[in-house]
Amino acid sequence: MKIISFQVIGFFLILSFIHSQSATLQYTFVVEETNHTRLCTTKNVLTVNGQFPGPTITARRGDTVIVDVINKGDHNITIHWHGVKQPRYPWSDGPEFVTQCPIKPGGNFSQKVFLSDEEGTLWWHAHSDWARATIHGLFVILPRLGTAYPFRQPDVEYPVVIGEWWNADIQTVYENFVNGGGDPQNSDALTINGQPGDLYNCSAPNTTKFAVEKGKTYLFRMVNAAMNNLAFFAVANHSLTVVGCDGAYTKPLVSNYITISPGQTLDILLEANQPNNNYYMASKFFNGQPSSAFENTTTVAIVEYTGNFTSSTPPVFPSMPAFNNRNASFNFTASLRSLASAEHPIDVPLTIKRTLFYTLSINSENCTAANPCEGNRTARFKASVNNITFAMPKTSILQAYYRGLGAGIYGDDFPDQPPLKFNYTQLTNLSRALRFPETGTEVSMLKHNQTVELVFQGTNLLAGIDHPMHLHGHSFYVVGSGFGNYKRSRDSLSYNLIDPPLMQTIAVPQNGWTAIRFKANNPGVWFMHCHLERHVSWGMGMVFIVRNGKTESSRVLPPPSDMPPC
Ligand code: C2O
Ligand code: CU
Repeated sequence: MKIISFQVIGFFLILSFIHSQSATLQYTFVVEETNHTRLCTTKNVLTVNGQFPGPTITARRGDTVIVDVINKGDHNITIHWHGVKQPRYPWSDGPEFVTQCPIKPGGNFSQKVFLSDEEGTLWWHAHSDWARATIHGLFVILPRLGTAYPFRQPDVEYPVVIGEWWNADIQTVYENFVNGGGDPQNSDALTINGQPGDLYNCSAPNTTKFAVEKGKTYLFRMVNAAMNNLAFFAVANHSLTVVGCDGAYTKPLVSNYITISPGQTLDILLEANQPNNNYYMASKFFNGQPSSAFENTTTVAIVEYTGNFTSSTPPVFPSMPAFNNRNASFNFTASLRSLASAEHPIDVPLTIKRTLFYTLSINSENCTAANPCEGNRTARFKASVNNITFAMPKTSILQAYYRGLGAGIYGDDFPDQPPLKFNYTQLTNLSRALRFPETGTEVSMLKHNQTVELVFQGTNLLAGIDHPMHLHGHSFYVVGSGFGNYKRSRDSLSYNLIDPPLMQTIAVPQNGWTAIRFKANNPGVWFMHCHLERHVSWGMGMVFIVRNGKTESSRVLPPPSDMPPC
């Protein structure tokens, strides 16, 4: 026994020696319209390689992945590697008109994706209009060869992609939404791995199934790829152990349900330790509003034990928090902790050089003859960060910045503090005058290696709701959060600077605040925005430009020769 295990160890040492150099992997993404049927509706949807959800990319920590994106569709497209920091190489990051112009129909772009310290589950998605509704997939980053998970090796790994399905064409949904000025049309179903599941019309035969064997452990690699809502998720009679979030390990967190916001990823262990039976895995939206103006149905998949048994019909159903239970959502998210071990240390900035305070608001703008709204609306929705509605330029900010042609494309006056201070979370009678934002393309300049603290403050203008804020090019530590107005003298005392979770997408609680810290160590142009698609379309976003450092190795790398032309 002993000899064998020594041989095994020796074998792994050799392997890890041979493979300590990272690999370069190649993928091809063909973007095209392909035929799909859900809810008895067959239609063409824009997909990658014909798949909905799209293909999973699998790499190891530190690898480089080259993805040849070929646009055979009839719509502009860009692809973003959500959570990949792309050190010094914003050129492949993907947000349309922030780092690149779109890949036009018939065009292609070979995107280099540079992994660094990410490990766990991330995802990729289109970053152009609302194309990400059907263009998205998992991005799995395994430990380097010769290293192991910091938790018991699972027997099997399964993807769990939460998504949405519209019977209507998504580009039409998007255009009606933009032109109309109101809320978007709700999706017709939620999906798990592309399938609505048993509870929807004509969907039962295709419900997603996960085979499990009693006594084994399963790793669910999960993303909420839905467009417009946070989600609750549970598996009947099984507890879930979260071990990773946003491509970083967490301390094991055991819970009967989880909350996951659009853009967020979670790694979850499930032990098949219940009597042989069929159990529903279920997900539904969380929306802190008392109204039901959102998709409030439930998608299910089935966790099926193998072996001979008589199963409950229908399968056992899990209990989940009520759709508007904001405490349940907050408590789950606030319980996440970094693993912070010797192998996976953390590095929370303790001395802060730049302190930012950003309000997140839903606003409105009057419909005018020059800027009409379809139908008989008198005002259209807008959204803002520090009262500025982000106006997408017509050309790439990164390209303009790199060539020194910024003026006329963007300004660098994004304010560090909101222009107006008010009782942000007052529940009634917020002055109408506060509703109207300014519009602009303003960036905030950060010095290379500057340590930043950013407090997001949700406001109750028009509608207080959770905002899952996502930063490109960096991960951040979530050091604190709470309901109500942030008060530095009180709230900074309760920060977790010991083991805060490392994330790139964090749900700022409804009428509450979240404080994050990061080091601006990645020169480039990086979008930051709400990951609710309707909010970013209304303008809830802004851009950081991290300046070059003083050395050659701290400057933005030159662009590739095949950047899509503007
Ligand atoms: Cu997941 Cu800017 O995106
Ligand atoms: Cu939002």
